[in-house]
Amino acid sequence: MATVMASGNADMELAAVELVDPRPDSNVAMIGCGPGVGVVAGARRAPNGMVIGLDPSAVMVERTRTRCRRERVEHLTRVERAAAESLPLPDRSQDAVVSVNNIQLWSDRSIGLDECVRVLAPGGVLVVLLHTWAMPDDVPYAEWVAELRTDLSARDVQVEPPQTQRFRSGPAMVLIGRSAR
Ligand SMILES: C[S@@+](CC[C@H](N)C(=O)[O-])C[C@H]1O[C@@H](n2cnc3c(N)ncnc32)[C@H](O)[C@@H]1O
Repeated sequence: MATVMASGNADMELAAVELVDPRPDSNVAMIGCGPGVGVVAGARRAPNGMVIGLDPSAVMVERTRTRCRRERVEHLTRVERAAAESLPLPDRSQDAVVSVNNIQLWSDRSIGLDECVRVLAPGGVLVVLLHTWAMPDDVPYAEWVAELRTDLSARDVQVEPPQTQRFRSGPAMVLIGRSAR
């Protein structure tokens, strides 16, 4: 599965990092980083910063660590076993938080969003990508996205109108928000 994700979702992970557009000294948290394609890409864009890869799966954490070693960005990264609902990061410590293809898996989206906002620095950017086909079946796409925007606005995140973009593995929602706290 990790191997499939590493190739099948690579363009989404890379697009998310491009949307963050990290400064050389940015701190970036990649939630649900899977096999770590975005962690490596982020580290290359932030050679004086730190990219933190987080995933609750021990297998994914190991895959990401191996990828970072192989790509020689180990010193620019930290990879830990953690879920969105409990981020092992200080308040206001991240210039960007990225979630690609995992928000639908969070056991409690409200707590996960609280955590994202807690760790974002003022003006920090939140980037969420999710395959449209991975959204819950029981809620129409537009409604699901509108609900997410409302949840973020309630947390003082200014959200740009979400776009639907086509990737190799299919269409996905692309959402960009900025913390106004
Ligand atoms: C479909 S994969 C996506 C991985 C990668 N971002 C990508 O697009 O290739 C979903 C990932 O989310 C992780 N995940 C599951 N529950 C999570 C949670 N509550 N918080 C953060 N990540 C979670 C899984 O372990 C898995 O690595």
